[in-house]
Amino acid sequence: MTSTELAREALPNRIKRRIKRMLGAWGVFFEGFLRHPVMVGSIIPSSRFTIAKMLGPVKWEECKLFVEYGPGVGTFCRPVLERLRRDGALIVIDTNPLYIDYLRATISDSRFTAVLGSAADVEDIIRAHGHSHADYVLSGLPFSTLPDGLGPKIAEATWSVLRPGGAFLVYQFSAKAREFMARHFKRIDSGFEPLNVLPCRLFWGWKEDAGEA
Ligand SMILES: C[S@@+](CC[C@H](N)C(=O)[O-])C[C@H]1O[C@@H](n2cnc3c(N)ncnc32)[C@H](O)[C@@H]1O
Repeated sequence: MTSTELAREALPNRIKRRIKRMLGAWGVFFEGFLRHPVMVGSIIPSSRFTIAKMLGPVKWEECKLFVEYGPGVGTFCRPVLERLRRDGALIVIDTNPLYIDYLRATISDSRFTAVLGSAADVEDIIRAHGHSHADYVLSGLPFSTLPDGLGPKIAEATWSVLRPGGAFLVYQFSAKAREFMARHFKRIDSGFEPLNVLPCRLFWGWKEDAGEA
């Protein structure tokens, strides 16, 4: 190959890299979507309105371990870390190595751990990091497009991992996740956020305290 051909060959990659740099986190998110559209399920990260509404009911002073499924490029991670107590921990789990590499490279906070893995393995993952239960679990997973059987498995594992009084926080474009949550969570509060691409449904599934069970 001549040097001219080499230069031509490299051009699309150079353009791609330049666009990615210009778009920053959104560029990385979009690239992750292009590689795994079904698993990512959205082309744009959640809005600040969704973040504020979803995290509103969290009692931060009682939260020692916050777990997030499907953090993408960390849209929720920074707001969670801003609210989390100094001795708290945030463990995020994503199946996409592009996102996990990006999070590890861009978030330096001793309370933060990014794990490459599936939400279905949350129990093993938190145990491996020295925790017996989580206070809150947040999910941005595209439940409607996950492989068959995975949604119910994740809902069950989440219920097991939560402490009594803790909650499963879910945002999604459809109400599919509610079906899986309802098998385990007796109390599910619902909300809606129109200022999001696409407008999304919000659910808070509360694990009953020992006295309520
Ligand atoms: C719609 S994106 C959510 C992005 C981000 N949380 C936000 O609010 O902008 C869904 C994410 O779920 C991840 N994902 C899909 N299946 C997963 C699984 N089984 N376990 C963990 N993460 C998963 C995808 O890689 C992607 O990062």
